Amino acid sequence: IAALTVTTAGTLVTGVPGQAADRPGRSRLVAGATPGTPGLGDSYFPDYGNGGYDVDHYDVRLRYDPATDRLTGTTTILARATQDLPRFNLDFLLDVESVKVNGWTAPYAREGAHELAVTAPRRIVRGQQLTIVVRYSGVPSETLIGGYTGWTRTADGALAVNEPESSWWWFPANDHPLDKATYDISVSVPTGVEVISNGVPPRPPLAEAGDRMRWSWRTTSPTATYLAFLAIGQYDVVTDTAPNGQPVINAYSTTLGPLAPAARASIERTAEVVDWASGVFGPYPFEAQGGVAGPVDGIGFALETQTRSVYGPGFWRRGANTYVVVHENAHQWFGDSVSVAQWRDIWLNEGFASYAEWLWSEEQGEGTAQELFDFTYAAYPADSGFWQVLPGDPGAERIFDDAVYDRGAMALHQIRLAVGDEAFFRILPAWTAEHRHGNATVAQFQALAERISGLDLDDLFTTWLLTPGRPALPTAARSAT
Ligand code: ARG
Ligand code: ZN
Repeated sequence: IAALTVTTAGTLVTGVPGQAADRPGRSRLVAGATPGTPGLGDSYFPDYGNGGYDVDHYDVRLRYDPATDRLTGTTTILARATQDLPRFNLDFLLDVESVKVNGWTAPYAREGAHELAVTAPRRIVRGQQLTIVVRYSGVPSETLIGGYTGWTRTADGALAVNEPESSWWWFPANDHPLDKATYDISVSVPTGVEVISNGVPPRPPLAEAGDRMRWSWRTTSPTATYLAFLAIGQYDVVTDTAPNGQPVINAYSTTLGPLAPAARASIERTAEVVDWASGVFGPYPFEAQGGVAGPVDGIGFALETQTRSVYGPGFWRRGANTYVVVHENAHQWFGDSVSVAQWRDIWLNEGFASYAEWLWSEEQGEGTAQELFDFTYAAYPADSGFWQVLPGDPGAERIFDDAVYDRGAMALHQIRLAVGDEAFFRILPAWTAEHRHGNATVAQFQALAERISGLDLDDLFTTWLLTPGRPALPTAARSAT
């Protein structure tokens, strides 16, 4: 009887889902009673993301006032239910004013640390298209969770740039890399303030009442939630065309003062770096390129925000730094296009982006990867705590530990030595092609490397990624030092 009611007038929209048989063993009679899960089963961050639906697109429409850090907005989420859905969650922290699902007002409640639980106002069946509209407001820099905010307020604006979570402070989302989507992002700000985000502007900034301008940005490639960003403040925007014909849009905070030339001498090489990296990693996976040099009072790190990485000011203090530009742009392949399936797979991001720096060094004649391996190996004494963190399973608190970056790069160099250059430089583009715009695991990388090289690499992967202590070097690879 219940199976019949699924298709009757209680549904929100017409159309019966076509995937009734895609979950073997699950009765349609009871499926409607199962709410969407508050997480996606990530072993490090079990409550990140949500089950029961899959987002296709976010339309994030905001209004922001730098003087008060007040953010108001409406986000429209286009999604598809992957099961009958009496209830589902979004990850979000700001104050919600209303939630509508396919036009119907939906009851909602805050649950847990960052969960917004939404009750289906009408029956939602598996396969159904959902249009979820959330209206909200808040002061993101003062919205703390565990004393922390991923939204950085600055003297002239703000940065929504953080990993592994960032959307909580500016748009409701299914916040896990497993659920990628496209984006339209627009922000109204006082005239004279710039807003930079991912992708390409579909239109020039539009004048609005009250001496304001609305800036629009569009991302047409699938994007993980943490790779969507906002940089709001005083920026010089520099646009150009890359050798591959794509738009290059760079932005420089006007607060950089004497750091500005070093920032420009680095970020203006983005198109060159992308061109070089395309030859090593395979075709560039996205529709635009660029970088944002953030303000002096902004973030203390860089992030590979999709199509347009954001850099903290610290990278320019000792002059130009093309290595960080290489690192963040390598992430466009390793992290942004091929994304982690679980945050435990973070080596696939940071180890590869770090090894890209060694390859660039080799290319620039500034030291071979072998020399950098030897230097790094020696730089961490055998009794250093560094060797106790496992790049293949660093723990949720240590996903950005030096070991994930440096031992992670060393692990890739050992793989290269084991399989030889010919196989190694076939493995990298095969990896980015096979998982383009998708998600992948370390085990899948090992399988690919073994398939292409014809070698059993299990000992090597276990030693370098999953065994505490400084690995002994195989004789052939032993450093000369
Ligand atoms: N993925 C970034 C990078 O290596 C690291 C981000 C670290 N995040 C942070 N909140 N400190 O390029
Ligand atoms: Zn990185």
